[in-house]
Amino acid sequence: MQDQYGREIRDLRISLTDRCNLRCVYCMPEEMVFKPREELLTDDEILIVMRAAADLGVRKVRLTGGEPTVRPGLVDLVRRIAAIPGIGDVAMTTNGIRLTQLARPLAEAGLDRVNVSLDSLDAEKFRRITRWGRLQDVLDGLDAARAAGLSPIKLNAVVVRGYNEGEVVDLAGLTLRHEWAVRFIEMMPFGSVAGFQQSAYVPSTETMARIAAALGPLEPIDVSGYDPARTYRLRGAPGTLGFISAVSQPFCAQCGRLRLTADGKLRLCLLRDDEADLRTPLRAGASFEEIRERFRAAAYRKPWGHGLARNVIPRRRVMSQIGG
Ligand code: 5AD
Ligand code: SF4
Repeated sequence: MQDQYGREIRDLRISLTDRCNLRCVYCMPEEMVFKPREELLTDDEILIVMRAAADLGVRKVRLTGGEPTVRPGLVDLVRRIAAIPGIGDVAMTTNGIRLTQLARPLAEAGLDRVNVSLDSLDAEKFRRITRWGRLQDVLDGLDAARAAGLSPIKLNAVVVRGYNEGEVVDLAGLTLRHEWAVRFIEMMPFGSVAGFQQSAYVPSTETMARIAAALGPLEPIDVSGYDPARTYRLRGAPGTLGFISAVSQPFCAQCGRLRLTADGKLRLCLLRDDEADLRTPLRAGASFEEIRERFRAAAYRKPWGHGLARNVIPRRRVMSQIGG
């Protein structure tokens, strides 16, 4: 399946809920209002869309949120998704807090790997950026993920001025001790949080300079296959460093990604408001073929490039309502 620009669509990210047990400052406002449950897709509805996507050539799926681990019945849903013919890789983006209980059952259900958000190794700074998170919960979650064989483990840090721009050195230092991929993400602006996000934005060049000054030169690595992160290694390190620079260096030419929001809209670009509604036809009794053709038609319309440079900012959703 290709879009109008010939990009191959191979990757679907599914938001399982807009809810979360944290309130990261770069993601949502503190007084976030969540969608009523009946607006969220059911397990059966998600599976229909997923099967249609697999039929059309999607091979990779990533489960996101909000926080995917707060969805009831998650382990069974993962088992059913992993069993869909054609789906070769099932990953999850999580804040890690519930992995102490869930890592093993998820791995047994067919989850291949996790990306864990971790923005600071200082408990107080971690609490401030997540508004109420406990660092130790995430560190325990990482241990559980490793023990359950959910690898390779990737860590995501969003860099926010005034919160964690100095923490990047300690986070990068983790790659000297662990075979982890630590990735630094430029903060993107969305909806009601956009003003803060733009004022506290830190470009990847600055983060790279800070890491190199403290830990030595970053050696570029060629990664085979498509990865939005530009990848490096500290000398002698078992782990890798990645920089995801959607704001300063957009990677739209290689983007083969679509997102299904928890309320059943196919979001065609993270940073644009264009969406195709799949929930309405699903609930109106559309056939599998009809859903598949709607999916294909929407994918074809995937836009090219974001408009951040011209101050065109997605307005309709914040990050937790899209899934990252
Ligand atoms: N900009 C960039 N990344 C973000 N995330 C959340 N909000 C933003 C933002 N404004 C990322 C976090 C998390 C994932 C779900 O989305 O890194 O790991
Ligand atoms: Fe929750 Fe992840 Fe958003 Fe933080 S970034 S509030 S953990 S969904």
